[in-house]
Amino acid sequence: MSGLFITFEGTEGGGKSTQIHLTADWLESQGREVLTLREPGGTPISEEIRHLLKHSEVNHNMTAEAELLLMNASRAQLVREVINPAMEAGKTILCDRFYDSTTAYQGYGRQLDLNSVATLIDFAVGETRPNLTLLLRVPISISQERQQQRRDEAAENTAAPKGSTTHVPLHFDDVGRDRFEEADRAFFERVEKGFRAISQAEPYRVKVIDATKSIEEVQEQIRKLITPILK
Ligand code: TMP
Repeated sequence: MSGLFITFEGTEGGGKSTQIHLTADWLESQGREVLTLREPGGTPISEEIRHLLKHSEVNHNMTAEAELLLMNASRAQLVREVINPAMEAGKTILCDRFYDSTTAYQGYGRQLDLNSVATLIDFAVGETRPNLTLLLRVPISISQERQQQRRDEAAENTAAPKGSTTHVPLHFDDVGRDRFEEADRAFFERVEKGFRAISQAEPYRVKVIDATKSIEEVQEQIRKLITPILK
């Protein structure tokens, strides 16, 4: 038996969490067993790495190289501990980001050597590849507006961690300062360029969705793209 592995990608503010939620409900209503995950994260080890990468007090001077290795360390654990067994059990996995984010953020954004990035990704994931990747695209201006909105909301309501799209309990609140959101506009423009390059290089796997549309329209598009690969 073999499952289905679908990843959701894109810069911040594309509405990935909402769409993953809606997609999971839709697939479950068809009797499928769905597992929702996020990267970095999704296992106890990977969630600790997530905290180190994003919110930890000690991460101010993290180098791009360390960031790249930690992303892949989190991923290597998630693939073997969760994704591969779930695929073998025939589950449908919806993952909020996967290795395309590493190519886009560490390769293009942090401008690390793209061949080294690809080699490390290959080592981290082995044979495990998404069947389909949905790239939710919004212009940088909207992405930054939505990030600000999210920060304002988080400041108002610090009670619940956002997006607990993982089957393991979160060890840390996913709120407060986020090291990635401290990057400048030029960084996010390079990340966006990276995602564009990925979608052009692999058009069969990576489908681009205009995420400036309404939640309902984006969801409809997602269902249209997933339907052909449902067995
Ligand atoms: P998010 O879960 O709120 O999207 O936060 C994850 C952050 O980590 C986001 O800014 C993108 C970044 N990221 C990378 O830089 N490389 C990666 O490989 C992954 C998975 C995420």
